[in-house]
Amino acid sequence: MPACQDPSQELDGIQWPLPPAAAETAITTAPRRLRLGVMASGEGSNFEALTLACRADQLPADVLLLVVNNPGCRALERARRLAVPCRLIDHRRQPSREALDDALIEAFGEAAVDLVVMAGWMRIVSPRLVAAYPHRLVNIHPSLLPSFRGLDAVGQALEAGVTLTGCSAHLVNEQVDAGRILVQAAVPVRADDDHASLAARIQRQEHRILPLAVRLAAQRLGLLSSPADQGPGTQG
Ligand code: GAR
Repeated sequence: MPACQDPSQELDGIQWPLPPAAAETAITTAPRRLRLGVMASGEGSNFEALTLACRADQLPADVLLLVVNNPGCRALERARRLAVPCRLIDHRRQPSREALDDALIEAFGEAAVDLVVMAGWMRIVSPRLVAAYPHRLVNIHPSLLPSFRGLDAVGQALEAGVTLTGCSAHLVNEQVDAGRILVQAAVPVRADDDHASLAARIQRQEHRILPLAVRLAAQRLGLLSSPADQGPGTQG
């Protein structure tokens, strides 16, 4: 099975924390590919990058379903172009956050996915979704967590005047942007950066780390074979 690597083979700037020893890394080899569900609200570039990483065999996985919450979003168009099954679950038509999450759980349950990836999902999820996918819900966030949680992390970084920011892929828990960090990449802030230029450079790193994070989450669950065989810095 090929290691999950950036096609350029460069992992500079990517931090891949060591997984914990013992129970969480109990490994069994899964003979089949991972089944992924993805949630997106807008542009969908992370959804596309993840789908292409799967198709390039950087990750032994398939994206079985994309769920979007905004009609007409770019992510929807990308799903059509990539021929990935897609469902619209408009949050405006749901009576509560819990009802929205119930609809997501039903959709991903029907698709029988192993892991769900929040790839630019701009709604706060309820404890219900977290409980339905324990250690199986991965989020991508445009900052080096725990800095700049919540909305507009890029704007927060510019406002704070930091010279280094980046992105984090992490497991989702009941607090916003606070679950266990899986993979991070650092991005320097340039003196002439504006919101758009910094966000674009961060996104390029997001596209690299998200497949790595999905792999790591799956390894921890025993859904993929031993971390020792899979990539850099993963031996527990
Ligand atoms: C990404 O930069 C992602 O980190 C961010 O939204 C963008 C979605 O881009 N997510 C959050 O801020 C969540 N707190 P995309 O739709 O092109 O993948």
